[in-house]
Amino acid sequence: MFGELERGFRGRLNSVRKKSVVRIPSLSDAYRLLCEEGVPPHIVRHCEKVALVAVFLGRELRHQGEPLDLALVCAGGLLHDLTKHHSLRTGENHAESARRKLFDLGYPEVAEVVGQHIFLKPGPPGHPIRAEELVYYADKRVRHEEIVSLEERFVDLRERYGRRTSSWVRIWRLEELTKLLERRIFKPLPFGPEKVLELNRVEDVKTCLTAWLSSAEGTLPKGKCP
Ligand SMILES: [Fe+2]
Repeated sequence: MFGELERGFRGRLNSVRKKSVVRIPSLSDAYRLLCEEGVPPHIVRHCEKVALVAVFLGRELRHQGEPLDLALVCAGGLLHDLTKHHSLRTGENHAESARRKLFDLGYPEVAEVVGQHIFLKPGPPGHPIRAEELVYYADKRVRHEEIVSLEERFVDLRERYGRRTSSWVRIWRLEELTKLLERRIFKPLPFGPEKVLELNRVEDVKTCLTAWLSSAEGTLPKGKCP
Protein backbone atom coordinates (compact mmCIF):
# COMPACT_ATOMS: atom_id res chain seq x y z
CA MET A 1 0.00 0.00 0.00
CA PHE A 2 2.66 2.47 1.14
CA GLY A 3 4.94 1.17 -1.62
CA GLU A 4 2.28 2.01 -4.23
CA LEU A 5 1.73 5.47 -2.73
CA GLU A 6 5.46 6.12 -2.71
CA ARG A 7 5.82 4.95 -6.31
CA GLY A 8 2.93 7.22 -7.35
CA PHE A 9 4.46 10.17 -5.52
CA ARG A 10 7.92 9.54 -7.06
CA GLY A 11 6.34 9.28 -10.51
CA ARG A 12 4.58 12.62 -10.10
CA LEU A 13 7.75 14.21 -8.71
CA ASN A 14 9.77 12.97 -11.70
CA SER A 15 7.22 14.32 -14.17
CA VAL A 16 7.28 17.71 -12.39
CA ARG A 17 11.12 17.65 -12.59
CA LYS A 18 11.02 16.80 -16.28
CA LYS A 19 8.69 19.75 -16.89
CA SER A 20 10.82 22.14 -14.80
CA VAL A 21 11.23 25.47 -16.54
CA VAL A 22 14.52 26.15 -18.32
CA ARG A 23 15.47 29.78 -17.77
CA ILE A 24 16.91 31.29 -20.93
CA PRO A 25 17.64 34.98 -21.56
CA SER A 26 15.54 36.50 -24.34
CA LEU A 27 17.28 37.91 -27.40
CA SER A 28 17.18 41.44 -25.99
CA ASP A 29 18.43 40.21 -22.58
CA ALA A 30 21.34 38.43 -24.29
CA TYR A 31 22.27 41.64 -26.15
CA ARG A 32 21.94 43.58 -22.89
CA LEU A 33 24.33 41.14 -21.18
CA LEU A 34 26.89 41.56 -23.99
CA CYS A 35 26.62 45.32 -23.57
CA GLU A 36 26.83 45.26 -19.75
CA GLU A 37 29.89 43.01 -19.91
CA GLY A 38 31.59 45.50 -22.27
CA VAL A 39 32.10 42.96 -25.06
CA PRO A 40 33.82 44.78 -27.96
CA PRO A 41 31.72 45.21 -31.16
CA HIS A 42 33.87 42.84 -33.27
CA ILE A 43 33.36 40.02 -30.74
CA VAL A 44 29.61 40.78 -30.64
CA ARG A 45 29.50 40.45 -34.44
CA HIS A 46 31.40 37.13 -34.21
CA CYS A 47 28.90 35.89 -31.59
CA GLU A 48 25.96 36.95 -33.78
CA LYS A 49 27.35 34.92 -36.69
CA VAL A 50 27.83 31.88 -34.44
CA ALA A 51 24.22 32.22 -33.21
CA LEU A 52 23.03 32.62 -36.81
CA VAL A 53 24.72 29.38 -37.93
CA ALA A 54 23.66 27.45 -34.82
CA VAL A 55 20.00 28.55 -34.98
CA PHE A 56 19.84 27.94 -38.74
CA LEU A 57 21.05 24.37 -38.24
CA GLY A 58 18.82 23.96 -35.17
CA ARG A 59 15.74 24.97 -37.18
CA GLU A 60 16.57 22.62 -39.99
CA LEU A 61 17.21 19.78 -37.57
CA ARG A 62 13.91 20.48 -35.80
CA HIS A 63 12.20 20.11 -39.17
CA GLN A 64 13.76 16.63 -39.25
CA GLY A 65 12.35 15.86 -35.78
CA GLU A 66 15.37 16.64 -33.57
CA PRO A 67 14.15 17.95 -30.18
CA LEU A 68 16.24 21.13 -30.00
CA ASP A 69 15.40 24.23 -27.96
CA LEU A 70 16.14 27.09 -30.38
CA ALA A 71 16.07 29.76 -27.67
CA LEU A 72 18.79 27.83 -25.80
CA VAL A 73 20.83 27.39 -29.00
CA CYS A 74 20.51 31.10 -29.76
CA ALA A 75 21.43 32.31 -26.26
CA GLY A 76 24.39 29.89 -26.19
CA GLY A 77 25.64 31.19 -29.54
CA LEU A 78 25.24 34.84 -28.62
CA LEU A 79 26.86 34.50 -25.20
CA HIS A 80 29.60 31.93 -25.85
CA ASP A 81 32.38 34.55 -25.92
CA LEU A 82 30.91 36.73 -23.15
CA THR A 83 34.25 36.92 -21.29
CA LYS A 84 36.70 36.41 -24.16
CA HIS A 85 37.88 40.05 -24.09
CA HIS A 86 38.83 39.63 -20.40
CA SER A 87 40.68 36.40 -21.21
CA LEU A 88 42.92 38.18 -23.72
CA ARG A 89 44.21 40.20 -20.76
CA THR A 90 44.06 37.64 -17.93
CA GLY A 91 44.74 34.37 -19.76
CA GLU A 92 41.66 32.80 -18.11
CA ASN A 93 39.77 29.96 -19.78
CA HIS A 94 36.95 32.07 -21.23
CA ALA A 95 34.57 29.11 -21.73
CA GLU A 96 34.84 28.39 -18.01
CA SER A 97 34.60 32.03 -16.84
CA ALA A 98 31.56 32.65 -19.05
CA ARG A 99 30.00 29.39 -17.79
CA ARG A 100 30.43 30.53 -14.18
CA LYS A 101 29.08 34.01 -14.88
CA LEU A 102 25.96 32.69 -16.61
CA PHE A 103 25.42 30.12 -13.87
CA ASP A 104 25.60 32.87 -11.23
CA LEU A 105 23.13 34.94 -13.26
CA GLY A 106 20.64 32.06 -12.99
CA TYR A 107 21.02 30.55 -16.46
CA PRO A 108 22.44 27.05 -15.73
CA GLU A 109 21.42 25.48 -19.06
CA VAL A 110 22.94 28.31 -21.12
CA ALA A 111 26.03 28.15 -18.87
CA GLU A 112 26.43 24.45 -19.73
CA VAL A 113 26.21 25.17 -23.49
CA VAL A 114 28.71 28.03 -23.29
CA GLY A 115 31.06 26.06 -21.03
CA GLN A 116 31.51 23.42 -23.74
CA HIS A 117 32.25 25.64 -26.72
CA ILE A 118 36.00 24.96 -26.58
CA PHE A 119 36.06 21.36 -25.35
CA LEU A 120 32.88 19.46 -26.01
CA LYS A 121 31.92 16.71 -23.56
CA PRO A 122 30.76 13.65 -25.50
CA GLY A 123 27.07 12.85 -25.06
CA PRO A 124 25.73 9.35 -24.38
CA PRO A 125 25.83 6.99 -27.40
CA GLY A 126 22.92 7.50 -29.79
CA HIS A 127 21.76 10.72 -28.12
CA PRO A 128 19.95 13.38 -30.20
CA ILE A 129 21.98 16.40 -31.31
CA ARG A 130 22.40 18.81 -28.39
CA ALA A 131 22.49 22.62 -28.21
CA GLU A 132 26.10 22.31 -26.91
CA GLU A 133 27.12 20.50 -30.09
CA LEU A 134 25.49 23.06 -32.39
CA VAL A 135 27.11 26.04 -30.66
CA TYR A 136 30.51 24.29 -30.56
CA TYR A 137 30.23 23.42 -34.26
CA ALA A 138 28.95 26.88 -35.29
CA ASP A 139 31.93 28.48 -33.53
CA LYS A 140 34.20 26.28 -35.69
CA ARG A 141 32.51 27.68 -38.81
CA VAL A 142 33.01 31.38 -38.00
CA ARG A 143 36.45 32.93 -38.48
CA HIS A 144 36.25 36.38 -36.88
CA GLU A 145 32.99 37.61 -38.53
CA GLU A 146 33.00 35.43 -41.62
CA ILE A 147 31.37 32.03 -42.08
CA VAL A 148 33.94 29.66 -43.57
CA SER A 149 34.49 25.92 -44.00
CA LEU A 150 35.69 23.78 -41.12
CA GLU A 151 39.05 23.35 -42.88
CA GLU A 152 39.59 27.12 -43.22
CA ARG A 153 38.66 27.73 -39.60
CA PHE A 154 41.10 25.10 -38.36
CA VAL A 155 43.90 26.60 -40.48
CA ASP A 156 43.11 29.86 -38.69
CA LEU A 157 43.11 28.15 -35.25
CA ARG A 158 46.45 26.45 -35.98
CA GLU A 159 47.99 29.76 -37.06
CA ARG A 160 46.76 31.51 -33.92
CA TYR A 161 47.14 28.85 -31.23
CA GLY A 162 49.18 25.99 -32.70
CA ARG A 163 52.75 27.26 -32.43
CA ARG A 164 53.89 24.58 -29.96
CA THR A 165 53.84 20.97 -31.14
CA SER A 166 51.57 19.92 -28.26
CA SER A 167 49.01 22.64 -29.16
CA TRP A 168 49.23 21.73 -32.85
CA VAL A 169 48.45 18.08 -32.05
CA ARG A 170 45.59 19.09 -29.75
CA ILE A 171 44.05 21.26 -32.50
CA TRP A 172 44.51 18.45 -35.06
CA ARG A 173 42.65 16.04 -32.76
CA LEU A 174 39.88 18.62 -32.25
CA GLU A 175 39.58 18.99 -36.02
CA GLU A 176 39.16 15.23 -36.47
CA LEU A 177 36.48 15.12 -33.75
CA THR A 178 34.73 18.16 -35.23
CA LYS A 179 34.65 16.53 -38.68
CA LEU A 180 32.84 13.56 -37.11
CA LEU A 181 30.40 15.95 -35.45
CA GLU A 182 29.84 17.72 -38.78
CA ARG A 183 28.95 14.40 -40.39
CA ARG A 184 26.49 13.64 -37.58
CA ILE A 185 24.83 17.09 -37.77
CA PHE A 186 24.36 16.96 -41.55
CA LYS A 187 23.35 13.31 -41.78
CA PRO A 188 19.60 14.01 -41.35
CA LEU A 189 19.70 17.24 -43.41
CA PRO A 190 18.92 17.52 -47.14
CA PHE A 191 22.02 19.66 -47.81
CA GLY A 192 25.72 19.65 -46.92
CA PRO A 193 27.99 21.92 -44.83
CA GLU A 194 28.59 24.32 -47.78
CA LYS A 195 24.94 25.50 -47.50
CA VAL A 196 25.86 27.36 -44.30
CA LEU A 197 28.16 29.68 -46.31
CA GLU A 198 25.01 31.28 -47.81
CA LEU A 199 24.35 32.84 -44.40
CA ASN A 200 27.19 35.29 -45.11
CA ARG A 201 24.57 37.16 -47.18
CA VAL A 202 22.41 37.92 -44.12
CA GLU A 203 22.92 41.61 -43.33
CA ASP A 204 20.73 42.08 -40.25
CA VAL A 205 21.48 39.12 -38.01
CA LYS A 206 19.36 40.30 -35.08
CA THR A 207 16.23 40.66 -37.23
CA CYS A 208 16.86 37.25 -38.74
CA LEU A 209 17.28 35.60 -35.32
CA THR A 210 14.13 37.32 -34.07
CA ALA A 211 12.12 35.99 -37.03
CA TRP A 212 13.52 32.48 -36.70
CA LEU A 213 12.88 32.28 -32.96
CA SER A 214 9.37 33.67 -33.36
CA SER A 215 8.46 31.33 -36.21
CA ALA A 216 9.72 28.39 -34.11
CA GLU A 217 7.06 29.37 -31.58
CA GLY A 218 4.48 29.57 -34.35
CA THR A 219 3.66 33.22 -33.69
CA LEU A 220 5.19 34.80 -36.80
CA PRO A 221 5.37 33.79 -40.43
CA LYS A 222 8.82 33.15 -41.91
CA GLY A 223 10.67 36.38 -42.65
CA LYS A 224 12.96 37.07 -45.56
CA CYS A 225 15.72 35.04 -43.98
CA PRO A 226 16.86 31.86 -45.71
FE1 LIG B 1 33.82 32.07 -30.68
